[in-house]
Amino acid sequence: MALLESRAPADPLVLFKRWYREAERRGALQPDAIALATADASCIPSVRMVLHKGIRDGRFLFYTNYESRKGRDLAANNRAAIVFYWSVTRHQVRVSGRVSRLSRAASAAYFHSRPRGAQLSALASRQSRVVSSRGELEKAVAELDRRYPKTVPLPSDWGGYALRPDWIEFWENREDRLHDRLRYVRRREGGWRLERLAP
Ligand SMILES: Cc1cc2nc3c(=O)[nH]c(=O)nc-3n(C[C@H](O)[C@H](O)[C@H](O)COP(=O)(O)O)c2cc1C
Repeated sequence: MALLESRAPADPLVLFKRWYREAERRGALQPDAIALATADASCIPSVRMVLHKGIRDGRFLFYTNYESRKGRDLAANNRAAIVFYWSVTRHQVRVSGRVSRLSRAASAAYFHSRPRGAQLSALASRQSRVVSSRGELEKAVAELDRRYPKTVPLPSDWGGYALRPDWIEFWENREDRLHDRLRYVRRREGGWRLERLAP
């Protein structure tokens, strides 16, 4: 369906949720996979995939290691951008804004909802550091498995981030590459300004 200003909801998250559900319904393989772009204090960019873990209070959530490369980037520069692309619907959604850490309680709640193996791996992995071998990682996981037979503690350097959008752009594939692009820009006084961009 064509992306028309006249039909666009006032709240971009309504459109986002509609597109996300449509991608799921049409069988997108990993609709929650997003590219996350960060930049360090010298403005050197870096991009990698992470998993989108929902929206809370209008913010996009993801979880990672705070001492990873992305974690260090975000500590130095809290501006970030994410992009979704669902090939089944040929929709792209770009989100840009500032990132803040989730509370320790919120991070713990998510951490403990993950499978035990994933919790142990997160605890064993000093993400983005050089390791001597895979064996070293597997040994660390086995040791932690013995040390914590019941609950795996939330690692001190692991948790969630929330990205508060300054703008969200919806892109829809159209014939002859005359694609639709609608961008919602957050207004200082509240609400969103909607504008169309050339493809
Ligand atoms: C589809 C996909 C999903 C991923 N999800 C996450 C994630 O949610 N959190 C995470 O820390 N890493 C995730 N990764 C691994 C990251 O891409 C990356 O290797 C890791 O976070 C280290 O990145 P950094 O060194 O830039 O910090 C995912 C990778 C792929 C391919």
